[in-house]
Amino acid sequence: MRVLIVYNKDSSKVIFRTGRQVKEIYSEKTIKKIADVLKKTGYYVEIADGNIEIIESLKKFFSKGEGIVFNLSYGIQGEDRYAHIPGLLEMLGVPYTGSTPEGHTLALNKVVTKIIFKHYGIPTPDFWVFSSEEDDLSMVEFPVIVKPIKEALSLGIKVVYNKDQLKNAIKEIISEFKQAVIVEKFIIGREFSVGLLGNGENLIAFPVLEFDFEGDMKAIQTTFLKKHKPVKKICPANITEKEAYLMQKLSKKVFNILGLRDYARTDIRMDIEGNIYFLEVNSQASLGETGSFFQGARAYGFSYTEMIQNILKTAIERYPFLED
Ligand SMILES: Nc1ncnc2c1ncn2[C@@H]1O[C@H](COP(=O)(O)OP(=O)(O)OP(=O)(O)O)[C@@H](O)[C@H]1O
Ligand SMILES: [Mg+2]
Repeated sequence: MRVLIVYNKDSSKVIFRTGRQVKEIYSEKTIKKIADVLKKTGYYVEIADGNIEIIESLKKFFSKGEGIVFNLSYGIQGEDRYAHIPGLLEMLGVPYTGSTPEGHTLALNKVVTKIIFKHYGIPTPDFWVFSSEEDDLSMVEFPVIVKPIKEALSLGIKVVYNKDQLKNAIKEIISEFKQAVIVEKFIIGREFSVGLLGNGENLIAFPVLEFDFEGDMKAIQTTFLKKHKPVKKICPANITEKEAYLMQKLSKKVFNILGLRDYARTDIRMDIEGNIYFLEVNSQASLGETGSFFQGARAYGFSYTEMIQNILKTAIERYPFLED
């Protein structure tokens, strides 16, 4: 099998730089590691940058034979960035790993995700949406956590305890991110994550992973921690079998109701009484070696190589004309 890894490296190669510039990026090290793993497995591998040159790279690669794109692109700019490369690949008829443009777009929008959660009975913190600090905020029950609707890496996130703080936080987010604000009940408690791999009957939920805040029930994962000082992870989490089963079962349901494909990761909080709440789902879950997705895969029994191979195999199975 021939595999073209597509990710975003040189974000200046566009016609215009406009809209919100993407902050998420795969390190060169991770891309190289994934390429090496696939080469060692016997695949023919090339790497391409998902910018203005991508159509030329795709034409060149696929003119020499069939294959698949391993899509590791977060996009370059714009709010629905994860959907861009998959959209282009669909237009060109190129097979690729991971979710469709629709799946990525639904998962990127925290409000749409939560409306779908509520519709299907997936527990999620109560929330309100505001587009101005002048909106009527009287129904908000504090404490709440305030987020831009379509960001990641905890960008713009703040916990607030009263109306004045809320007004300021809304104003700051709108001015910095140029998008509406989701205000969500702050869940005091513990934090978990569940990695998912596969599709349909073969969808696997990895063992539940806990972010270890050392008993600080009000701690959250900030952008600084995510980038510079990742919170220690415990996997499998120290919870009851029943709790783990529920988180895994509902994570699979989340994957299916949003129509995701191949792999993803859910983020969950548990309050002091043991109630669980789904915060969001990451349709472009990081596959880095230190990330929570791999830690879950490892606890399930996969080596790094096996995890990457399985993602690719899962995707290839969706395209009957491709032979592994
Ligand atoms: N309702 C909540 N109650 C308590 N903590 C929360 C809540 N929502 C978010 N958090 C905290 O803020 C962090 C970031 O929130 P969230 O996962 O919604 O945003 P994100 O920026 O999309 O994250 P990611 O980097 O996973 O894409 C969470 O990991 C958690 O620590
Ligand atoms: Mg998250």
